[in-house]
Amino acid sequence: MKKNLDWENIGFAYRPTDSRFVSMYTDGKWDEGAMIADPNVTISESSGVFQYAQTCFEGMKAYLAPDRRILLFRPEKNMERLNNSNERVCIPKIDPDFCIHALEELLKIDRDWIPSAPDTSLYIRPFIFATDPYVGVRVGNQYKFIIILSPVGAYYPEGLNPVKIYVEPTYVRAVRGGLGQAKTGANYAASLKAQQEAKQVHYTQVLWLDGVERKYIEEVGTMNVFFKIGDEIVTPALEGSILPGITRKSVIEILKGWGVKVAERRVSVDELVEAYDKGILGEAFGTGTAAVISPIGMLKINDKELVFND
Ligand code: COI
Repeated sequence: MKKNLDWENIGFAYRPTDSRFVSMYTDGKWDEGAMIADPNVTISESSGVFQYAQTCFEGMKAYLAPDRRILLFRPEKNMERLNNSNERVCIPKIDPDFCIHALEELLKIDRDWIPSAPDTSLYIRPFIFATDPYVGVRVGNQYKFIIILSPVGAYYPEGLNPVKIYVEPTYVRAVRGGLGQAKTGANYAASLKAQQEAKQVHYTQVLWLDGVERKYIEEVGTMNVFFKIGDEIVTPALEGSILPGITRKSVIEILKGWGVKVAERRVSVDELVEAYDKGILGEAFGTGTAAVISPIGMLKINDKELVFND
């Protein structure tokens, strides 16, 4: 493990490791790629990624097991999702096995960067973007696929303490038929304004409502959400506007394996408030690769504050 970091307080900052994997797509195919040291990318000022946001990314983590093996969590699911995102913004698909092999080789080279302090991991960010120069709106012909790594701690400043979430009344993140289920930069750009305003009033994150009726819960933008209502765990169904989280999927599988009732369905704000007032809204939590499983301590809905477990 690299010794020069304050492992207890590293937070979720970007700390480039020594190497990154880069592959290029030209003439209709991905090249074999290479491990490089240079963290900078030089591309045309009129690349499709700059002009029209043609880009997708993933988020994954590597951990060190006590026996020093490097562990990844369901990487094939991330690569499947990357290709689903690619498909939505017309980026050519990339072979999942090729990506996972490249990642494994990269992790071997940079294994000293995998932290082992509690609540830390090596964050993995694979991403793809259009690199050829053009100015009319069209699909790119050239792309780069890059995997970068960074040792990280907890995503939220609260660590694993409950976060305060602001239910966003004005802005929307995505609508069905749009980009919401793709992990593409534009969704995150769309979220920044609300996020900034929520921070100003001391909330950690924004909880998005559906873009049509502004009534149904969607996601937090950095995590999917779950609520315990009575003896059932409910989470918004995947209807095209929210990210199909891999931690979300895994949590549902684990809960069902434990015999817990889980429903993937529409959950309205009114239902949450009513359940809260009746005293049956027991818990709320979010799931995500960066966010892991984060308890929600408070939801601010208009003028009402729903507080969970004090
Ligand atoms: C992740 O959980 O890996 C994400 O991509 C969320 C956020 C950091 C963008």
